[in-house]
Amino acid sequence: MASNLLEMQAITKTFPGVKALENVNLKVKEGEIHALMGENGAGKSTLMKVLSGVYEFGAYEGDILFKGETCRFRTISDSEKKGIVIIHQELALIPQLSVAENIFLGNERSKRGIIDWYKTELETRELLKTVGLDEKPSVKAGSLGVGKQQLVEIAKALSKEVKLLILDEPTAALNEEDSENLLRLLLSFKGQGITSIIISHKLNEIMKVADSITILRDGKTIETLNVHEETITEERIIQGMVGRDLTHRYPLRTPTIGDIGFEIKDWTVYHPVQSERIMVDSASLNVRKGEIVGIAGLMGAGRTELAMSLFGKSYGQKISGTILKNGTPIKVPTISAAIEAGIAYVTEDRKEYGLILMQDIKSNISLANLSSISRRYLVNDHQELVEAERYREKMAIKTPSVHQKTGNLSGGNQQKVVLSKWIFTEPELLILDEPTRGIDVGAKFEIYSIIHDAASQGKSVLMISSELPELLGMCDRIYVMNEGRITGEVAREEATQELLMKYMTRGRD
Ligand SMILES: Nc1ncnc2c1ncn2[C@@H]1O[C@H](COP(=O)(O)OP(=O)(O)OP(=O)(O)O)[C@@H](O)[C@H]1O
Ligand SMILES: [Mg+2]
Repeated sequence: MASNLLEMQAITKTFPGVKALENVNLKVKEGEIHALMGENGAGKSTLMKVLSGVYEFGAYEGDILFKGETCRFRTISDSEKKGIVIIHQELALIPQLSVAENIFLGNERSKRGIIDWYKTELETRELLKTVGLDEKPSVKAGSLGVGKQQLVEIAKALSKEVKLLILDEPTAALNEEDSENLLRLLLSFKGQGITSIIISHKLNEIMKVADSITILRDGKTIETLNVHEETITEERIIQGMVGRDLTHRYPLRTPTIGDIGFEIKDWTVYHPVQSERIMVDSASLNVRKGEIVGIAGLMGAGRTELAMSLFGKSYGQKISGTILKNGTPIKVPTISAAIEAGIAYVTEDRKEYGLILMQDIKSNISLANLSSISRRYLVNDHQELVEAERYREKMAIKTPSVHQKTGNLSGGNQQKVVLSKWIFTEPELLILDEPTRGIDVGAKFEIYSIIHDAASQGKSVLMISSELPELLGMCDRIYVMNEGRITGEVAREEATQELLMKYMTRGRD
């Protein structure tokens, strides 16, 4: 029986008005992959920040024992010296720096006070090989896709001689293939004796790799399940997380579908910088009133580019084609024109496009629809508060107050604020780009219900998702994109994962 590498005992951590952790215990055995699970806001990220010294000793109560030794970390580098390395929920590479510079940032390879670029490059090559990333050390981190950036983060972790690797939702932004690779990498680390803790909302992945699963709920430890000693089903984990059975993953709905609300004809978009590169190639589609239409596709298929270019040309150049609303062509050259025309876009990248993290929750919610709560250009604070409270309740946003800074919310709860913000504009066309990324199973159900509500009010909903079961569970009709083109259109009745996959790779050599 393996001994415990890590023991966190009776950890309590409070923020003003929030008890994020209350007497939490966590035991991680040497050499295992330990999953940490729980709903949005359960305290998973906070617990890992306590462990890695982001919250210093004294800022929490309880004890941390690593290899039997009591640890009192004052900074992140204190925990790194012991071999505890964390990769945070939000990626933290500096886009302007090269891969090599990012990997050795703050940990430079130097000779007599001067950076040894030869050694830096050599070691970077080795590390990139270990994580299976075929890129040059000199390439800028910002030019890589999220999947590859994630691998660079892992390479960076390995450069520090890691004993305990902590991954906070590493696959949330990854497609199926990249996620598989990452999980395989994790298993190979296990083979080399590296222990890891993984946080994920993707139950199927956890089932594949985890040896033990600790479940947190409302800042408390609920239980630790040992995958090798008992049979653990997804239902069993969900029950631990939400405290009840979740018999349906998707709410029931009887659609009432009307006339075509929005139609797009021959929509073509070029890359914003590389002016010869076609990103969306004469796409045509329509969405009826009351209909939920999905867009499936692999990473880079052009789905986000299509959505953003429709939303007031916020992506791309040389955009051509027609948008018709209720059969009449409309012009939407800017984001404000798009909002005016009743189009809303909920982004997959909440940090970059969706939210102002420094501001409080209520102002984020009202941001895109200030006119509805203003009179003569003055925002009515009371009305703003009333609306914000309404959405907090509707979306079950976990926070003591809507006056909280949005940046203080857990990842999943930030996503709910983005959704609130756009639903508050009462759009006629609601475009959702990966709306449930990083959202726990229970909250997903709530978000699905809200999408259903929008449709039943006669709105047109266009939904991009990389999770095929989600598209199958939610959509009346699904378009499939590949390499900028629409390669298929599938009705709900005939939709299967296999059929969608077939169209997703159609036309490739
Ligand atoms: N800096 C902070 N200030 C105030 N409250 C915070 C802060 N950080 C976290 N919280 C609160 O602590 C609770 C736990 O948050 P945490 O980020 O640990 O959740 P999580 O389990 O990681 O959720 P998710 O799955 O959504 O990422 C939440 O209620 C959150 O709003
Ligand atoms: Mg988190």
